[in-house]
Amino acid sequence: MTNTTHEHQHHGHGGHDHGSHDHDSVDWDAMGESLEEEGTVVAPMLEEILGWVDTIVGDDGRAPRRILDVGSGPGVGTVSMLQRWPDAEAVAVDAGQGLLARADRRAADRGVADRLTTIERHLPADLTDLGRFDLIWVSMVLHHLGDGTEAVRTLADLLEPGGVLVAVDFGDPMTFLPEDLDLGRPGLDQRLEEAVGRWLRHGHGHDEVPDDATVNGDVDALARAAGLEVVAVRDFRLRLESPLDVPSRRLLAGHLRRLQTVLADGLDPDDVAALETLLDDTHADGVHHSDRVHLDTSRRVHVIAAPTA
Ligand SMILES: C[S@@+](CC[C@H](N)C(=O)[O-])C[C@H]1O[C@@H](n2cnc3c(N)ncnc32)[C@H](O)[C@@H]1O
Repeated sequence: MTNTTHEHQHHGHGGHDHGSHDHDSVDWDAMGESLEEEGTVVAPMLEEILGWVDTIVGDDGRAPRRILDVGSGPGVGTVSMLQRWPDAEAVAVDAGQGLLARADRRAADRGVADRLTTIERHLPADLTDLGRFDLIWVSMVLHHLGDGTEAVRTLADLLEPGGVLVAVDFGDPMTFLPEDLDLGRPGLDQRLEEAVGRWLRHGHGHDEVPDDATVNGDVDALARAAGLEVVAVRDFRLRLESPLDVPSRRLLAGHLRRLQTVLADGLDPDDVAALETLLDDTHADGVHHSDRVHLDTSRRVHVIAAPTA
């Protein structure tokens, strides 16, 4: 039985800057198809991450029974976890109703719908009514949640004793250009990632973030500030060689388009022009056609222990 409840909780977030990356200014629902496709492209890395998590949580033979996937999106991770741990049930929470509908469909297609509950909520909504969890999965979401310290603390409070919070976020910067591609100054991908770093450190448009909050995806610092212990951390990497297939090209284009939106003011004109060329779907050097672009992306995964009483 798929049990979808819709409990949209509106928070008065008005007045975000144009570069805001919060749920209110990114139309996540409209991104459902691309999020699902991106999930498929990075699936080999997801499986590796889950295999590693399994060695940690399954250490004493105890596979997780209750899983919370925070900001689940279309449920690519949720469904993979349900497939990996056949005795587990999962609750997927997201602010996007259309995304949760995708998660439900995905679970049904893969025969795990009876173990999935999807709940529409906009964090930092209260989740304490959902009960306690052995595994809380928060993948590519923390950097959207404004005050990350507070988010990590309140999520960890939902853990069963001995449970773990697994935070998946950006690892090393994504690279995609060969050194000698004649497209403006060399080193564009590094400069883009540096500009993202500056943007994240400056609160990326969250107008509710306290000045001293850590919002930049530095999960070690978040956990320390929240008084929690990081029990394991590891980087995972996916490298797809050129020529890329169509879904990988679309993933790259989506990534660059998001950068173009949020970094408009943080790049010099040459780099803005190079980004336009890369995204031009009629240009031979653009990521849709060039046989020279590759995709090298990574994730840093932190496993955080439940708070000790
Ligand atoms: C980059 S996607 C990650 C999806 C999935 N966890 C994954 O790893 O592929 C970010 C997700 O966080 C959700 N999200 C962003 N801000 C949120 C908020 N304040 N409350 C609930 N969900 C939010 C978005 O709807 C989106 O599904």
